[in-house]
Amino acid sequence: MATVHVLDHPLIQHKLAILRDKNTGVKEFRELVSEIAGLMCYEATRSLPLMDVDVETPVATAHCKMLAGKKLAIVPVLRAGLGMVDSMVDLIPSAKIGHLGLYRDPETHMPVEYYCKLPDDIANRQVFVVDPMLATGGSSIAAIDFLKKHGCKNIIMMNIIGCPEGVKAVQEAHPDVDLYLAAVDEKLNEHAYIVPGLGDAGDRIFGTK
Ligand code: PRP
Ligand code: URA
Repeated sequence: MATVHVLDHPLIQHKLAILRDKNTGVKEFRELVSEIAGLMCYEATRSLPLMDVDVETPVATAHCKMLAGKKLAIVPVLRAGLGMVDSMVDLIPSAKIGHLGLYRDPETHMPVEYYCKLPDDIANRQVFVVDPMLATGGSSIAAIDFLKKHGCKNIIMMNIIGCPEGVKAVQEAHPDVDLYLAAVDEKLNEHAYIVPGLGDAGDRIFGTK
């Protein structure tokens, strides 16, 4: 079964508290999503494989480590996942980026796919799927399904806020995919919004409501 990592680092929790606040405006919300994603990326990449390298310093040979193994890709689920990309690319500048457009049907809450553009060699990469919200789990599950259909075998899911229903659904659908979250909230409401959550992540990032 996949591991669920809830990242309770004080910096993440502090920024998350401001992010949730209904009085936080678009500019600050966007900045916070990006900062939290960067901090989460630091933790989610902790188990990446390393290789030994010798580096000549001005003084002597240093026995060092550098990233080895598979190359990386970041796949944001549009729209809201876009807000998590820049800070991750700052940390992993050579990562390729795929885009997957999904929106939740307002009636059924089921994900509807409307866009996809992935790197050609996505199947050979360690993929980080990013989306701030894991509510019913439908979008994250569909994103992972889609990537698996494109041959991806190494997928990590990063959501800022989840809930027990969504975490369970992803774990059941994709037991091989580790989940990284900053918080697992109480529940979903009757509109499939996370309680207490932060409202609609896409609208708050892009100022569309
Ligand atoms: C939000 C969010 C996730 C999805 C989570 O996107 O960014 O993708 O809902 O809900 P789920 O776990 O129940 O699928 P939304 O569909 O509102 O689209 P948007 O990012 O374009 O606003
Ligand atoms: N999508 C959001 O943006 N927020 C929620 O609480 C649920 C789905």
